[in-house]
Amino acid sequence: MDFQPILDDIAATLAADRGLHGQVASYIPALARIDARHFGLALTTTEGQSAVAGDGALPFSIQSISKVFTLTLAMQQLGEDLWARIGREPSGDPFNSLVQLEHEQGKPRNPFINAGAIAVADRLVSVFGHRAKAELLALMGGLAGEPIAFDEEVAASEAQTGFRNLALANFMKSFGKLDNPVDAVLDLYFHQCALRMSCVQLARAASYLCRDGAGICTERQTRRINALMLTCGTYDAAGEFAFRIGLPCKSGVGGGIVAVMPDRLTLAVWSPALDATGNSALGMRALELFVARTGLSVF
Ligand code: DON
Repeated sequence: MDFQPILDDIAATLAADRGLHGQVASYIPALARIDARHFGLALTTTEGQSAVAGDGALPFSIQSISKVFTLTLAMQQLGEDLWARIGREPSGDPFNSLVQLEHEQGKPRNPFINAGAIAVADRLVSVFGHRAKAELLALMGGLAGEPIAFDEEVAASEAQTGFRNLALANFMKSFGKLDNPVDAVLDLYFHQCALRMSCVQLARAASYLCRDGAGICTERQTRRINALMLTCGTYDAAGEFAFRIGLPCKSGVGGGIVAVMPDRLTLAVWSPALDATGNSALGMRALELFVARTGLSVF
């Protein structure tokens, strides 16, 4: 299959809709001023084909897509021990919800809601200490094949306004479920969210997920990460994503979404305006068009 014409066609089909659906995330001030009309997509296949369209080469804030990569790093380092502190069930709640943490004694439902990613960050600070951010950058640079950096302005903006994340971290700490100081854990968490990458870089970086781990993690771990992306990667819209798209996906409030077709390809889309569940509105439409035109699905 030649994917370039398909991506071009999706970009052309959605061109008139850019910026019309949803809202750019405003609770992180440094993200609020991004132009809602951006739209890009890129893919890379297991056979070495790549394709890019629209703003696919422009870097943006990957936000919660980083949760896939920190989970990968934690699974590499901790294996099964990781799951003592983090569950594997969809939450059915918004990504920044506090309610379930109280009922379940500070154990987050899954590693992709904010509480779960903060718990993963705590584990990484335990393993790597003050080198944790550098280890994450090294992983990302290795996966993307070129240096990847944090957007320090976005990280600072999140630190100044991350009242909910502070609440989540302090709440878990009160249950004895974080080992490290809240400040150190959130410093890693805010920086991982502030990684700047393009769709091209993201599709390439995630490609171990469609290649049985490709030496980054084991085949079994890769299957598990994909299963978590399908069930939890888009929060309370995960059922809708499975229904309409049928691929493991991970979204971020920067408007990016990474999708995986095991043994075939990884696809990244970006459009900053979000729907009510915090997922890119046009990004989701682009993924729907892609699966309709290619017939690809894990089902
Ligand atoms: O912690 C936050 O709220 C943001 N840095 C990341 C949230 C996010 O991307 C959730 N995704 N849809």
